[in-house]
Amino acid sequence: MNVTCIVGSPREKGNCALIAGALVNLLAEQGASARTYELNKLVYRGCQDCQTCKTTSESCGTEDDLSPLLADIGGSDVVVASTPIYFGEVTAQFKSLIDRLYSYLPPDFITNREATRLPTGKKLALIVTQGNPDEGEFGDIVERYQSLFRRLGFEEVYPIRACGVEIGAVSQIDEATMALVRETAAKILGAAARIPGAA
Ligand SMILES: Cc1cc2nc3c(=O)[nH]c(=O)nc-3n(C[C@H](O)[C@H](O)[C@H](O)COP(=O)(O)O)c2cc1C
Repeated sequence: MNVTCIVGSPREKGNCALIAGALVNLLAEQGASARTYELNKLVYRGCQDCQTCKTTSESCGTEDDLSPLLADIGGSDVVVASTPIYFGEVTAQFKSLIDRLYSYLPPDFITNREATRLPTGKKLALIVTQGNPDEGEFGDIVERYQSLFRRLGFEEVYPIRACGVEIGAVSQIDEATMALVRETAAKILGAAARIPGAA
């Protein structure tokens, strides 16, 4: 099982990195191989609307640090994607990546609502952290990105929300979030896997 992990927070030791890392570790313990991309360390642009991916090429026409990540998303079985909420949205780093995923939609994507270039069977864990402890806030963002990833062709999308996270130095993941990480690992790995502590 190949896993591509995306850290959408600029904080390399923040909550997103910690939660995504914990999930990747559980998958790796069961034999998965993983590659992690910290978006903030990459130099890239958002979608240029050049339409290369809809005319002369099946992939994104912009070549930059995002190119290998875009290719890895297509080639992996599982994507672990994480972002904090900034001003009621995903981070700018994360949104620019999202726009570049436009290259995974083929030219007939408007008339064929199921058209995608992503191979079938992919799973995605969507980790969203926020300072606000109220789960009623920003849940719509998680739902919106869940349906966007489904539209792109991910067969399963598992959300992991962490609300009221530490804003300063982060020492550990709270037990409720860790339980969700274990459950998600078990769902990704399927019935054969044994994740200690997962329901
Ligand atoms: C520029 C900025 C804007 C933020 N906006 C929000 C917000 O609108 N709602 C919220 O609950 N938390 C907000 N936060 C807090 C972050 O969501 C929180 O610190 C983050 O989830 C931590 O993730 P990390 O540890 O992975 O960096 C904001 C933080 C920053 C730096």
